[in-house]
Amino acid sequence: MTKSEPIIAVLGGTGQEGPGLAMRWAKAGYAVIIGSRQAEKAQRVAAELNEKLGLDTIMGLQNADAASAADISVLTVVATAHQAALESLVEALRGKILVDATARIDFRDPQPPAPPAAAEIAQEILGPETHVVAAYQNVPAHTLKQNLGSSIDTDVLVCADHLEAAEQVIQLTQAAGMRAFYAGGLKNAITIEGLTAILISMNKYYRSKTASIGITGI
Ligand SMILES: NC(=O)c1ccc[n+]([C@@H]2O[C@H](COP(=O)([O-])OP(=O)(O)OC[C@H]3O[C@@H](n4cnc5c(N)ncnc54)[C@H](OP(=O)(O)O)[C@@H]3O)[C@@H](O)[C@H]2O)c1
Repeated sequence: MTKSEPIIAVLGGTGQEGPGLAMRWAKAGYAVIIGSRQAEKAQRVAAELNEKLGLDTIMGLQNADAASAADISVLTVVATAHQAALESLVEALRGKILVDATARIDFRDPQPPAPPAAAEIAQEILGPETHVVAAYQNVPAHTLKQNLGSSIDTDVLVCADHLEAAEQVIQLTQAAGMRAFYAGGLKNAITIEGLTAILISMNKYYRSKTASIGITGI
């Protein structure tokens, strides 16, 4: 790792979506911190992920400590805890980039959520000094954890009002083995969340776990 590479925290990184992202970045040479409400749980999960990868570069910390220590944080707490988690992280995230992966979809009855997008809510809570970027809503946890050394056959739509922040997240996403495209401002992120409802519906119909999206024409 070079000194210019950001430290990445995956907040709520102890669940389904976070560990796959964390392992992909650790494998690409980034310093990664797993965040949790409980430091012990974060450390346990970090140790498990390190063991899987044969590395020792993933750390575990309580969410606010992880966000403070990182340059870029990725929020992967359960969708129902989105607002409360962010309210407890305002100071730790100030002046940094927060990548919001939240898709507020009920798996039993998948339907597009009403605006505003979760990422817009995050921006409102965190204030203008923090740059919120929406990404990974359409990337299945199952896919992220497979074939860690390889690219993933999926494309990631990245929404942000701050282009430089979006470009940094596009680079990080590429480092994790996915193609990524800028897809407009944070207001557009509601459509990305809605796409997740479509993908879950398709998974149910086609008995899959890994429906995702691909962009053509660019
Ligand atoms: N699963 C997927 O395939 C997928 C795909 C795309 C996007 N997403 C999005 O990624 C996010 C995480 O999904 P997931 O499936 O990984 O969720 P999850 O496994 O159900 O939960 C993730 C983590 O949330 C934390 N958490 C639970 N209750 C909390 C609370 N009250 N306050 C703060 N943190 C709490 C837990 O961490 P601690 O107990 O360690 O604090 C848990 O490990 C969601 O917004 C989801 O929409 C998921």
